[in-house]
Amino acid sequence: MRSTSLDWNRTLAIAERTAERPPAGTQAVRNPYSSLPNWLYPTFVVVALGAFLVYATWVVFFERNGEYSPYLSPFFSPLIKVASIPPAIWVAWAPLAFRLTCYYYRKAYFRSFLWHPRSCAVPEPQRGRHRGETAFPWILNNFHRFAFYVTFVQVAFLLYDAILAFDFAGRFGVGVGTVLMAVNVVLLSSYTFGCHAVRHLAGGELDCFSCSRVARARWRLWRGVTVLNVKHDRWAWASLASVWLTDLYIRGLVHGWFTDFRWVS
Ligand code: FES
Repeated sequence: MRSTSLDWNRTLAIAERTAERPPAGTQAVRNPYSSLPNWLYPTFVVVALGAFLVYATWVVFFERNGEYSPYLSPFFSPLIKVASIPPAIWVAWAPLAFRLTCYYYRKAYFRSFLWHPRSCAVPEPQRGRHRGETAFPWILNNFHRFAFYVTFVQVAFLLYDAILAFDFAGRFGVGVGTVLMAVNVVLLSSYTFGCHAVRHLAGGELDCFSCSRVARARWRLWRGVTVLNVKHDRWAWASLASVWLTDLYIRGLVHGWFTDFRWVS
């Protein structure tokens, strides 16, 4: 144990020296969070995700209407009405499962809510035997790919809704809601199709990318997915914000808090 901690201290000392004086002609590689206090990122995640979860819970369980023609809230799409059950209940579980099992969100909530650990090179609190994703509940994270299949279908519905949002009783038009719904579906698609599981579906388990026409097509697809995957965390936050804002706007119309600004031909 003692030699391990000595090695660790030596490694840290070398890393610090290297960061201070990068070799001539090279750039120092820095942890993007290293210049910020290491509590800042976890605090941001707790506040932002916590606030969204409170809002989403209120909408899903206590709001009955997410429709203001021609707009439909993303929490209510596809619209399923069964007796007096709140319609969003039939829908919300899919994006929830998708985001909870997302590789990026796992990092975010493990660091922020569980301090496991809260930042790079920061010791975490002592805890019992941790079995990672081999035991309940974290083993459920292994179902991420299946959550993607369901979310894929939902994104298709959102695209359809965004197209319908240009139809104002048979006349072409654009309202603030149309713009929000269109932007939302673009951001959600970028998040969904930049998923690590999609990247694997596109190019995984191939030994040779150039050996057949199908393999070459999969390579091109893999490269496209990788472009989105590189900024997966940004797409995750941007799409979360757009879902929130789109619902908030439509909710404001439903409750009469303001009127829709629109241009109709
Ligand atoms: Fe984030 Fe799949 S890894 S959505």
